Amino acid sequence: MPDQNTRPRGFSTQQVHAGADEPTSGGVNPRALPILATAGFVFDDFDQAADRFGEVGGYSYTRVGNPTASAVERRLAVLEGGADALLLASGQAAVTATLIGLLGAGDHLLAASSIYEGTRGLLLDNLSRLGIEADFVDDANDPDAWQALVRPTTRAFFAESIPNPKNDVLDIAAVADTAHAVGVPLVIDNTLATPYLLRPLEHGADIVVHSASKFLAGHGTVLGGVIVFGDRFDWTVRPDLFPHLTTAGRDGRSLTDRHGTLALAAYARDSVALRFGPTPSPFSAFLIQQGIETLSLRMERHAANALAVARWLEEQPEVLSVDYAGLESNAYHEVAARYLPRGFGSVFAFTLAGGADVARTFIDSVDVFTRMTHLGDVRSLILHPASTSHVQRTEEEQRHAGIWPGLIRLSVGIEDVEDLIDDLDGAFRVLRSGAETEGALSAPTRTDAAAVLG
Ligand SMILES: Cc1ncc(COP(=O)(O)O)c(C=O)c1O
Repeated sequence: MPDQNTRPRGFSTQQVHAGADEPTSGGVNPRALPILATAGFVFDDFDQAADRFGEVGGYSYTRVGNPTASAVERRLAVLEGGADALLLASGQAAVTATLIGLLGAGDHLLAASSIYEGTRGLLLDNLSRLGIEADFVDDANDPDAWQALVRPTTRAFFAESIPNPKNDVLDIAAVADTAHAVGVPLVIDNTLATPYLLRPLEHGADIVVHSASKFLAGHGTVLGGVIVFGDRFDWTVRPDLFPHLTTAGRDGRSLTDRHGTLALAAYARDSVALRFGPTPSPFSAFLIQQGIETLSLRMERHAANALAVARWLEEQPEVLSVDYAGLESNAYHEVAARYLPRGFGSVFAFTLAGGADVARTFIDSVDVFTRMTHLGDVRSLILHPASTSHVQRTEEEQRHAGIWPGLIRLSVGIEDVEDLIDDLDGAFRVLRSGAETEGALSAPTRTDAAAVLG
């Protein structure tokens, strides 16, 4: 039955139904998403083979497209409010394919300096070796700071909606306006927010990327990534910036002639993903879809638990600061309240007085929290960024980014929040018993923070 309603369906309905219409195999129509584990697809005859390689299209080879992955792409496009999506093998594959799709040798990217370390490394090492240059903006919510670093070769702006671990929530509309004023698109990594909490395209972003390995899947059993394409950015306004999209090919037509504002989506799928080959397995696509179907419920619990844990941490005398934008005391609370009315996410950091040794004792004392470099899992996770995720940075760079020796990152899961607080409380009790013996931590106060945080 077609949908008789004019009212758009709600997120929780869409997360279990959107994009599931296409019959998938042999005329049967299974309720759950079938896993089409096949390298390729049969051509009925000579002409159909030619059609699949031409304008008519259709499935030919899984590296080019697979119905299991396509179903996930359709669903994520709807959930993000986009016009198309491309599922890839990991979040890093999604970020890489987006940037390779936008930039070539001699081009320049402007990125917020708080981006994920893997993306920072991609820019500083791999893409720089290919001749793609990058600059990093420290105060990403200051449009003038972006504007000041724009070059004639700048081709895109890149930032995260909720950066990790400092929660410096982005004013997406302000950055989008600045990007558009210089004729380039804004790419947002929306991994930590998910489309349930925030839909960057609605605030002016042009392209959204995710690590689907995190909240979208949620169960920590799979890696995946997705690019979601908006359809508002007009690549032909400054055709010289994106010649691979706007220059006519052998048939006399360009990608923008054929696909309009979705030219980048076509290029990313039919050129970048096709040739670089970061194809998701159909099994992975299936697992990601299973996760997406409970996304809204999990995000509500994640956010409620995180807020309760952050409020509780703020009360502990050993805690110098809590970087959770959901707290009224947080410098990013006003921006976060504007962009995240459904909740503030669940990945944040707090800083203990006493530095790395105290952090070590604390992390080694938890039991419900898992020590792990991952986030967005249903299970609560704990990490010491200075010695793990941010270890490639010099001490000075760590300090500049606010990654103090006593800083601990949490990804708060969906367990009973009383158990999470009890677990953290147990770790504080271990610290306190050690401090009593050694007299080291006897009376840390917030006024000590300036000294410890430098
Ligand atoms: C914000 C963000 N983007 C991208 C990635 C990369 O995703 P993946 O691990 O799926 O490659 C991560 C991974 O931690 C991330 O946190």
